[in-house]
Amino acid sequence: MTVSARPLTDDDAEASRRLGWEAFGAPGTPPTEPPPPVAGEGRCWYGAFLTDDSGTERLSARMLDRYFETWIGGRRVPTAGIAGVTTAAEDRGRGLLSPLFGALLAGAHERGAVISSLFPTAPKIYRRFGYEVVGDLVEVEVPTAVLAAVDAPAGGSVRRAVAADVPAIFDCYGAWAATQHGPLTREGAAFASDRDGLLNDFTGVTVALDDHGTITGYALWDRGGEYGPGSSIKLEEVIATTPDAYRGLLRTLGSFASVTPAIKITTAGFDVIRSLLPALDWQVIKRSPYMINVIDIAGALTKRGYRYGFEAVLDFSVADHFLDACNGSYRLRVAGGRGRCERIRPEPEQRQFTARGLAALYAGALPVAELRAAGLLTGGDPATDSLWDGAFGAPALQIRDYF
Ligand SMILES: CC(C)(COP(=O)(O)OP(=O)(O)OC[C@H]1O[C@@H](n2cnc3c(N)ncnc32)[C@H](O)[C@@H]1OP(=O)(O)O)[C@@H](O)C(=O)NCCC(=O)NCCS
Repeated sequence: MTVSARPLTDDDAEASRRLGWEAFGAPGTPPTEPPPPVAGEGRCWYGAFLTDDSGTERLSARMLDRYFETWIGGRRVPTAGIAGVTTAAEDRGRGLLSPLFGALLAGAHERGAVISSLFPTAPKIYRRFGYEVVGDLVEVEVPTAVLAAVDAPAGGSVRRAVAADVPAIFDCYGAWAATQHGPLTREGAAFASDRDGLLNDFTGVTVALDDHGTITGYALWDRGGEYGPGSSIKLEEVIATTPDAYRGLLRTLGSFASVTPAIKITTAGFDVIRSLLPALDWQVIKRSPYMINVIDIAGALTKRGYRYGFEAVLDFSVADHFLDACNGSYRLRVAGGRGRCERIRPEPEQRQFTARGLAALYAGALPVAELRAAGLLTGGDPATDSLWDGAFGAPALQIRDYF
């Protein structure tokens, strides 16, 4: 048997669909319609194939590159969002993910991606490729009565969204995301269908308006099928730019208190709405860890933003990256909120990050002292670690899109 990996074509669509069912659940009755086309704007499927002695090729593993951008330090970082990873049951454990990641990450780099991210089912699967856990998407449960008890807004109003509101809703998300560390920009072809389908994807899309009629926030919510004890409403997203908008939106969801005792909120990091809730209830009921991999070190460190008012020259090396082209020594100069990273000659005693350590640093997930404690960084003078924390330290990562 020989192994090869390449982008999938429409000829591979049925085999790819079957692999997906095998890993993530099959429909009760097989669909009669043909599989959706493999090719599409804003994404590319890759497959690993086993070819037997007779030359017959069989799709054995596949995964998807989604063309995303991530906001980091106020700048957009081109990102390969990995999804749908699966290997045929009988072919697992024979190392097919290595050629598959090799092909996908090379293709992603060619199209300009400098980092990659994914939601793992187990982190160990992805660590050898350079991915490290840097945050969580979480679902929290809050009593509906707590939302009902949020202070009333001093002005403004709420109403159900109409199609004409969709651009303003995406603008509101974009304005919020640009100030955060980690969320996707939700721009480009990868999100075109989300824009078109927004009002149909949820039971309710509620917008908050100020007294001039400008949209200042929105809530996306799913009512769920039940009422009474044990029932809940899913608040898939609530984002606003003013306290009145947050109050109006939260109280709108709170008005369901007589029929549904709980609201399940999708969030990450330390959500600002906790500062508006009158009670402490904020029970995490589900956690989806998120991993990042720096796949073009000079590109990724140059494209992200940094804190204003901070200047540093930081030398380091990476030696164990799955992508050989990443290994080497680098100098990062940070000034004026920007960074410029270039290759330099190796020097003795340099800080040496593992690929995973660099991913954690990049996302501001761990202080440098913790990277040392976890074996993700060696060398350099620990007394100057705070220089690195100053450049990379960040609030908890935000991610609001599961993929
Ligand atoms: C996860 C999956 C894609 C791995 O594919 P594979 O072809 O077996 O992977 P490889 O043979 O290249 O690598 C196997 C490595 O992953 C590790 N691994 C696989 N599943 C793991 C798990 N659930 N927990 C921890 N490690 C795991 C193996 O221990 C092995 O590591 P090792 O080489 O150090 O022993 C495959 O098991 C699968 O399809 N699982 C069901 C679907 C799934 O979970 N997909 C991931 C979605 S994020």
